[in-house]
Amino acid sequence: MKDLIATSIRCINDQLEVLDQHQLPHCERWLPCNSAAEMIAMIKKLQIRGAPLIGIGASLLLARLAEEGMPEPELREAAEQLRAARPTAVNLMNNLDTMLEALNVGGPAALPAQAERLFDEDIELCQKMSANGAALISAGASILTHCNTGSLATAGAGTAIGVITELQKQGKAPHVFVDETRPLLQGGRLTAWEMQQLGVDYTLICDNMAAMLMAQGKVDAILVGSDRIAANGDFANKVGTYSLAVNAHYHNVPFYVVAPYTTVDLECPNGDAIPIEQRGAAEVRGVSGSFGDVCWSPTEAHVFNPAFDVTPAKLVTGWILDNGVFDQVQIAAGALANR
Ligand code: MRU
Repeated sequence: MKDLIATSIRCINDQLEVLDQHQLPHCERWLPCNSAAEMIAMIKKLQIRGAPLIGIGASLLLARLAEEGMPEPELREAAEQLRAARPTAVNLMNNLDTMLEALNVGGPAALPAQAERLFDEDIELCQKMSANGAALISAGASILTHCNTGSLATAGAGTAIGVITELQKQGKAPHVFVDETRPLLQGGRLTAWEMQQLGVDYTLICDNMAAMLMAQGKVDAILVGSDRIAANGDFANKVGTYSLAVNAHYHNVPFYVVAPYTTVDLECPNGDAIPIEQRGAAEVRGVSGSFGDVCWSPTEAHVFNPAFDVTPAKLVTGWILDNGVFDQVQIAAGALANR
């Protein structure tokens, strides 16, 4: 494969490597990835994460395995194992389907070019979403965002953070409220790190402070990403997104979801059909990262830990996609299916 370089994944001289997001922001460590088992373990541990990026990571790995001479039946088996690594982000399944289409037509030799195409396409999709979103937001706006949706979560500039990056580039100087995003702190650890890198003016908040900021009129818009958008516009995203949408509705704050077409699942008629990943209890009982493991609750505390929640379409002001911005009327009329 040609050399491919993004913020959190790279393939240089045919060595695939992943930036270990579990260690950020205090430690920047690249991990080699040479097998499906390694990639699956990294996906499960969120060392590689973000809906678009896990799809790209799985595709690049499959391409590398093909280049190393893995026979076709084993490549198909590896694809099936990778597909099951995380259940909610449909980009993983969509990208693997695209890889398998290439395998069906051209055999293993067709996989590297297909993976390169997906990588390059993801960068382009980010550029399109960013431009579409930035056109909606005024200079100096205060934006609230959740989880991490930037260059750590995609091959390009990101989805919601892609829009923020574009606003910054255009000199519109946004201010960003960054939800810390319990339980895994993707906001506090990763989005804060990205805001620093981009030179964006930001304020880190605990998730339970967002409603108060909205009540005080300090939030002009909320931008979030998505792991899967159902045909009716309901969408899954990092747990806590639904609370933000309810609060935004109550306080009349515009609430936008930003996503590429690879996040759309037309086979899910609505949000009830989106599978939601349930994760381990330790993530809620405490926290772990480059700073070590901390458990602050009784070690036997019963825990509820869904990784994502579903926001109904009726709470969404607009869907900022790579092919345009759509409102509730357009989505209800089938805009997601008409590309
Ligand atoms: O569990 P994570 O960290 O992979 O969750 C990520 C999100 O929820 C993002 O908002 C989503 O993947 C879209 S990112 C471009």
